[in-house]
Amino acid sequence: PESGPYGVWRYSAGLPFEEGVSLPEGGTPLHYVPRIEEEVGVNNLRIKHEGMNPTGSFKDRGMTVGVRVAKEVGVDRLACASTGNTSAALAAYGARGGMETLVLLPAGKVAAGKVAQASLHGARILEVDGNFDSCLDIVQDLAARGEAYLLNSLNPFRLEGQKTIGLEIMERFHADEGTYPDRIVLPVGNAGNTAALYKCFRELRKAGAIDEGDVPKLTGVQAEGSAPMVEAVEEGNDEVRRWEDVETRATAIRIGNPVNAPKALPGIRETGGTAVAVSDEAITDAQRSLAQEGVGVEPASAASLAGLRKLRESGEIGADEDVVCLTTGHLLKDPDAAYEAGGDPEPVPNDTEAVLDHLGE
Ligand code: F0G
Repeated sequence: PESGPYGVWRYSAGLPFEEGVSLPEGGTPLHYVPRIEEEVGVNNLRIKHEGMNPTGSFKDRGMTVGVRVAKEVGVDRLACASTGNTSAALAAYGARGGMETLVLLPAGKVAAGKVAQASLHGARILEVDGNFDSCLDIVQDLAARGEAYLLNSLNPFRLEGQKTIGLEIMERFHADEGTYPDRIVLPVGNAGNTAALYKCFRELRKAGAIDEGDVPKLTGVQAEGSAPMVEAVEEGNDEVRRWEDVETRATAIRIGNPVNAPKALPGIRETGGTAVAVSDEAITDAQRSLAQEGVGVEPASAASLAGLRKLRESGEIGADEDVVCLTTGHLLKDPDAAYEAGGDPEPVPNDTEAVLDHLGE
């Protein structure tokens, strides 16, 4: 629409408020990527680029609702544990709402752009000598002692906002193609998005807006070094075993204890989806392929395309499928990873003839 609320708050009918603490967020593009579509060999491939949100990740959709709730409740201090993006979003939305923010980060394991954001937006940043899962344990303790209001995806209001990713995908895809996507492939860390999308589809079903056969198969992707959800799906377990040691270049999803697994596992199963683990090399290849189509994403985001490729190769995803890959964060979030995946600049003298020489012309 030309006027009225933008993005997330267009869907206020499905949210707990009419408006939030907003920057505004949502309304992200659903890119066509014809060269990758052809190479992967599916009927239709679209990229929902959540890196185009105000702080560069999908977390903004959850924060606009969560911080509004915090304002309503009248808390002083907002807190989260984070692999980076949640902390950037919390810092920005907390600042917007005029509230104090505290973030706990795993020391040395957060991409530069994310720490820079949290810092400049005014969060108090604590670097914990441990991984993300330990940070989340501590911040849950702080919240339980009344020291702060918890804004990790354990907070159900975050997931309410993140549901709008599903609403936008369904609306846009149907407007363009006249059908709904067969499958949504997304990176999984704490499994908040997987849970949010599942809730979105259940609500659309309940409202009679879509039929059972319209629900996309939720397909989660993790990095091989950090894949407890994949393990649970492959072994058919109802619970996820916490991995104490996790490692991947995709630091955003370097998570061993996906706290939303109880809400997300049924989503993967009931929709007929699956979960798959991919190597860091495959993630980098996918990041490069997306960049070559002009779509700049951070490593964790590229896991979705890497997962799609792997499941096409194994035949688990058919050539006739319409697929949406979710890319969760912007390229600039992790400039070091982007630089490594790209190439080095070429130094040249300060002289046109020398530049032409260098170019070989
Ligand atoms: N992609 C990116 C870029 C992320 O930052 C995250 C999570 C995920 C995917 C996984 O999403 O948890 O809903 O399964 N980042 C959190 C953070 C943990 O602290 O920024 P999920």
